[in-house]
Amino acid sequence: MKKEKTAVTIRLAEPGDVRAIAEMSRDFIESGLGWRYDMAHIQRAMRRRETVVLAASERQTYVARERPGLSGFAIMDFGDERAHLVLLAVQPTQRRLGTGRRMVEWLLESALVAGMASVHLELRADNEAARRFYRALGFSETVLMPKYYDGREAAMRMIRVLRAPGPLPLSWHPPVLGQK
Ligand SMILES: CC(C)(COP(=O)(O)OP(=O)(O)OC[C@H]1O[C@@H](n2cnc3c(N)ncnc32)[C@H](O)[C@@H]1OP(=O)(O)O)[C@@H](O)C(=O)NCCC(=O)NCCS
Repeated sequence: MKKEKTAVTIRLAEPGDVRAIAEMSRDFIESGLGWRYDMAHIQRAMRRRETVVLAASERQTYVARERPGLSGFAIMDFGDERAHLVLLAVQPTQRRLGTGRRMVEWLLESALVAGMASVHLELRADNEAARRFYRALGFSETVLMPKYYDGREAAMRMIRVLRAPGPLPLSWHPPVLGQK
């Protein structure tokens, strides 16, 4: 059956999203491992200046009393010149509709503007769907790290290079993503 495409807005997460984000992390990313990214952890991430917590929410097309559902979320830390994509998930019913791609493109654009040289991530090595997703978005697989999660599950490390590392010249302007 064809999935119904819901209009999705990409925005910064708000306090009202914390529970849904933590539960998505528990159910779709950390399942079978300990629940690290619980509500307190997500709240701390939202308060950190160097962290972006992004939400993809169903767009409200009418004046509704209910808060629109969360379709997806992503968390990224910005370092001096390396950004770390910490978590990303889309609701199972909303997958393969471009929401994950839109969130990553939003984050890559922000990383470019912030002068980041590269974006890094780790994911469970047996998560073939997510590995394909990141490869489709221009990430390359670098190192397999055995026993990375809870001392038992392997992780794959991936990278998307945005520019040559090192200090930016004073005349630097962020390039437009996708332009050679
Ligand atoms: C990985 C994930 C975030 C992808 O989100 P999504 O919104 O479904 O992805 P998109 O629709 O934007 O997909 C973009 C492209 O990635 C690739 N892709 C995405 N999911 C894929 C899958 N299951 N199998 C193969 N390729 C896939 C495709 O090339 C796709 O383009 P297409 O649909 O036009 O073929 C989603 O599957 C998910 O939440 N998984 C569980 C959590 C997780 O694994 N997170 C990543 C580790 S933290």
